[in-house]
Amino acid sequence: MQYDVTVIGSGPGGYVAAIRCAQLGLKTAIIERYPVLGGTCLNVGCIPSKALLDSSEHYHNAAHKFGTHGIDLKDLKVNLPQMIKRKNEVVQENNKGVEFLMKKNKIDVLYGHGSFVSKNRVKITGKSGETKEIETQRVIIATGSKPIVPANFNYDKQRVITSTEALQIEKVPSTMVVIGGGVIGLELGSVYARLGTKVHVVEYLDRIIAGMDSDCSRELMKSLKGLGMEFHLRYGVTDVKPSKSKVTVTAKSRDDESKTLSWDADYCLVAIGRKPYTDNLGLENAGITLDEKGRIPVNEHLETAVPGIYAIGDVVRGAMLAHKAEEEGVFVAETIMGQKPHIHYNLIPGVVYTWPEVASVGYTEEQLKEMGTPYKPGKFPFRALGRARASMDLDGMVKVLAHKETDEILGVHIVGARAADMIAEGVALMEFRASAEDASRMSHAHPTYTEAFKEACLAATGNRALHV
Ligand code: FAD
Ligand code: NAI
Repeated sequence: MQYDVTVIGSGPGGYVAAIRCAQLGLKTAIIERYPVLGGTCLNVGCIPSKALLDSSEHYHNAAHKFGTHGIDLKDLKVNLPQMIKRKNEVVQENNKGVEFLMKKNKIDVLYGHGSFVSKNRVKITGKSGETKEIETQRVIIATGSKPIVPANFNYDKQRVITSTEALQIEKVPSTMVVIGGGVIGLELGSVYARLGTKVHVVEYLDRIIAGMDSDCSRELMKSLKGLGMEFHLRYGVTDVKPSKSKVTVTAKSRDDESKTLSWDADYCLVAIGRKPYTDNLGLENAGITLDEKGRIPVNEHLETAVPGIYAIGDVVRGAMLAHKAEEEGVFVAETIMGQKPHIHYNLIPGVVYTWPEVASVGYTEEQLKEMGTPYKPGKFPFRALGRARASMDLDGMVKVLAHKETDEILGVHIVGARAADMIAEGVALMEFRASAEDASRMSHAHPTYTEAFKEACLAATGNRALHV
């Protein structure tokens, strides 16, 4: 069979690239090594983690907030197998959705492991070893990423787990040690903390979510401590020893070698980052070599060193985010057709789906300082907002960073209820290069959380916040 484009990998990068290619009239195939479509995001990432985050949040609110709202419950208990079952059903519904989209767009789905025979020839190896080869004019590599687990952490998938296994636990653990205070550690750590697990987070650096603005790190840590999570910053894990029913984790202080901490826990969740996945892809047959971090090098058109072979998503440089992968999928399809698409990488928002949520776009205060860009900050706390008081979600703040001379919005950082949805306003305004004053003169419905954004913009334009 001869294709215009073959996509390897059906995650959010791959399947969106395939749809856009098909929409533009290209004869398209997509290869997936698992029996279901959707990749990490849909099967063991974004979607199942958010399903468990929502379920555990409902439980936590029922246990700790409903009473104040005047709703009394008796005999409240967690049914974790049911939570996991619902999560699996959500995933399956989404699997069917992607399958439908492939059919609707007349994309050939080829199940099996894809590998290059040559630049224009791809082999698909099925589960029982049967093979098939296709000819293709172009290839889009979208093979994603896998968790990083050092060998000395003794990853056994039973007691020492990654996010994949953490989405399948069927009995609420009494103790969990999370290695890494990044996005996965905090999202999945908070799922179990809400259900009653004692969660210890060990983080090598001096703050959690270290890539985000330091005010976000501080605010989020305060809230998560309120949930009972314990943080051990500037500690590095030295030993992870699993047994049949427990795991012993030891960590050493980075400041004082003689200071160690040790826990006996039900689980140790390793969440120290992810690495690009290119195993057995036969890149050497196509003439592609990886960079020092195992990523596929690409130019500004997301094309590899081999003309006609492109790579997108987690397997290339940049943030490992589903929406970044999707943008790149559309970008490559349109580039192939001779269009001139553009991705504004600095305006790809980052969100942490804890409660409160954290959402961020543009430059952090630390980055602006480092770049020597003159800026003025404007902050507004949610607790000063009528809407936040009405719904008892008082934690967090909005911080807007605007250019000191031009007033252009350079960064928006939110910790608080509905931050994940609110950040879209910051993205839209920054795409159109709005000033903080522009934003502060837009009418924001009352009472809504978005008023906190308007107030932060007012604060950035000369201390004009009205409600604080
Ligand atoms: P992937 O989604 O990893 O898909 C790659 C696909 O390629 C896989 O299906 C794989 O089986 C297939 N494949 C690999 N090699 C081959 C081969 N040789 N032949 C055939 N098929 C192959 N991001 C967000 O934006 N928001 C979130 O809320 C979020 N939550 C997350 C939660 C967790 C627990 C995790 C682990 C990740 C989360 N992410 C989130 C990150 C997000 O999942 C990734 O950034 C995204 O999935 C990357 O998309 P991708 O298409 O590049 O690769
Ligand atoms: P991460 O990069 O977000 O965080 C890893 C943390 O582990 C860092 O803070 C790092 O300093 C720390 N660390 C590394 N080695 C350590 C050690 N030995 N001991 C203690 N701490 C150590 O990586 P994470 O959380 O694994 O997530 C991987 C990727 O998945 C992220 O890059 C993110 O883009 C994506 N993701 C996105 C989500 C979202 O958008 N909501 C949700 C989950 C994952």
